[in-house]
Formats: sequence, structure tokens, C-alpha cells
Amino acid sequence: MKLCVIGGDGIGPEVVDAALAALLVLLPQLEVHHAEAGWQTFVKQGVALPQETLERARECGAVLFGAAGSPAYKVAGYRSPIVELRRSLACYANIRPTTSPMGSARAVDLVVVRENTEDLYIGEEASDGEVATALRRISRAASRRVGEVACALAASRPRRKLTIVHKANILPLSDGLFRDSVREVAAGYAGLEVEEVLVDTAAYRLAANPAAFDVLVAPNLYGDILSDLAAAFGGGLGVAPSLSVGEGCAIAEPVHGSAPDIAGRGIANPQAALSSVALLLDRVWQQPALARRLQAALADTLASGVRTPDLGGQSTSAEFTRALCARLQAS
Ligand code: NAI
Ligand code: MG
Repeated sequence: MKLCVIGGDGIGPEVVDAALAALLVLLPQLEVHHAEAGWQTFVKQGVALPQETLERARECGAVLFGAAGSPAYKVAGYRSPIVELRRSLACYANIRPTTSPMGSARAVDLVVVRENTEDLYIGEEASDGEVATALRRISRAASRRVGEVACALAASRPRRKLTIVHKANILPLSDGLFRDSVREVAAGYAGLEVEEVLVDTAAYRLAANPAAFDVLVAPNLYGDILSDLAAAFGGGLGVAPSLSVGEGCAIAEPVHGSAPDIAGRGIANPQAALSSVALLLDRVWQQPALARRLQAALADTLASGVRTPDLGGQSTSAEFTRALCARLQAS
């Protein structure tokens, strides 16, 4: 088994190192290749996702990606490396599960499946300084293939419920195509309960009653926003994992970004990266027993009171990781 590890910017390298340490306890034979991408890489090399990194990622087939700190203004030649990576590796569906933490009053257990390759993330913008436009692309093919991942996932879960998120009342051609394409795919799954919800209503219903949702499927931007919202019910961005899958390659990537406000302080929560690795173990490497061992060790570590500050604790990332690895070794 091979893994391409890309730390990226800010807390990316911090959380990725922690996840890798745990992974090597479980899979000591794992062949690890480190590669560079991100804003710092762009500053040094003039490219955010070097060709060498892309080749390494392709060759490994599995990637652990930390975070990229992308500027919120136009920089000539810069493109988000994670958006590029997902597209280049044809990782067209991003699976983002949220489960409520142990002992919480709500029983949330939902997954946002986010389309990963198109929508506004194609980055085709134009501006004359007075009027700016951004092109949004939705295709039947991309909508169907993410629909396929979402339907298969929903069919494998006890509630067998799929919620299609769109805004076809305002965007009947583009969001209508997304909705219709997913519905076509869903028609092939007997026993699946399929509902559709407008994205603004979905945001309200998620906030008001998250336990009502099972699997949600959404175009790229809505999925990005709603999964961050859902993350609030799972303990926050520090614990929200994701896995991008598609045509053979996979990327384990925490939902959070480079968190410049806490970067370099050694207090980032590595749990999101660790749970992303658990998804990789379970769904890609077909190692469900190892995934369960990792999840159990995570739960035990938290239950023992070792927590990073975002969860109200006082442990550093390194203390958390040491405690976790000790539990893994003993399990
Ligand atoms: P962010 O997710 O980096 O941080 C939001 C808040 O959550 C911050 O207060 C941060 O301290 C906290 N947080 C995030 N992860 C945490 C962790 N593991 N442990 C403890 N606290 C954590 O989002 P923000 O601040 O909006 O974006 C910062 C940069 O990250 C931007 O440049 C953005 O473009 C980039 N970004 C990159 C992503 C990626 O590479 N996949 C995803 C999201 C944002
Ligand atoms: Mg996001």
C-alpha cells in the first residue's frame, strides 16, 4: 500500500503528521511518499500543485492532504491545489460524514456527498472592475456519477434516505439538470426514499433538525457550505473528516482549512485528519477492522479527557497524538 502525504499550509502539516503517526502504528509496512502543494509552494516555485506532486499522487493512488491556504484575492497563476488535485485525480465525489459526539443530546448521523469537479469551482471568472461574472457549470455526467456514489451510500445505510439539494426554482437549467440527473440514478435503487430540498431550506432544516437527514447530495458549492454547517453537530471543524473518491484514486482530507489563527501553536486538533484516514482505511483500502481500531482509540482518548482546546481541553496536538498512538499500540 502506498500513500502520498501532502501537508500543505498552516495547520495542514501539523494534523497530517499526527494522522501519519497513527497510521504507521496500524500499517507499519505502508510506503509513504511526501510531496508539496499549497500557497507556500506557490510562493517558492510559482506553482501551487507541482507536476511532480501530481505524478506522485497518481502513482500512489491514495493521498492524505492537510490544507491549502488560498488567498481571497486574485493572484496571477494561482489556483487552489486541492481543487486541482481532486479534478486531476478524477476524485469526483467528496464524502463528508457527521455524527454527534458521544453523550450529546442529538443523534445526528448524516453524510453530505458533495460534487467535487464542477459548479462555480471551475474558477472561470471575469471582471472589468465594475461588473464581475463567474461561470457555473453543471453537467449530466458529473451529476450522475456523484449521484451514483450518494445513492449507493444511502442504500447501504439503515435509513436508506437521500436528500437532493438544489436551487432549481432560481436556476432551473443548471440545478434542474443536477436534480434530474440524480433522480434518474436514484430510480435504479429500489427502496430508497428520495426527497428534494431547496438549498436555503436545507440550511434551515439542517440547523433546526439535523437528525432528520441521512445522506444529502449537492452540487459543489452548496455541499461545501452545508457540510461546514453539519460539522457543527459533530464537534466542529477540528473533528470533521472527508474522503474524496472517484475513478480509482482517493484523497483523505479534513474538511477544515489551514486555520492561520492557530497555525504554528501546536494546538490544532488532528482528529479530522485522523478520521479522514479511518475513512480511507475503511472505504478504499478495505481494512474495516483497522478503521474501527482507529475510531475506538480516538473515542477512548477523548473519553480519558485528552482533548485539544477547540473541544474545551488543554492538550497540545502532540500530547493528543502520543496518547492516541499509545492506545492504538495497546489495542
Ligand atoms: P479554517 O477551516 O481554516 O478555520 C476556521 C476556524 O476553525 C478557525 O477558527 C480555526 O482555528 C478552526 N479550526 C479549523 N481546523 C481546526 C483544527 N483542526 N483544530 C482546531 N481548530 C480548527 O477556515 P478559514 O479560516 O475560513 O480558512 C483559512 C484558509 O484555509 C483559507 O485560506 C482557505 O482558503 C483555506 N481552506 C482550505 C481548505 C482546504 O485546503 N481543503 C478548506 C477550507 C479552507
Ligand atoms: Mg469548505
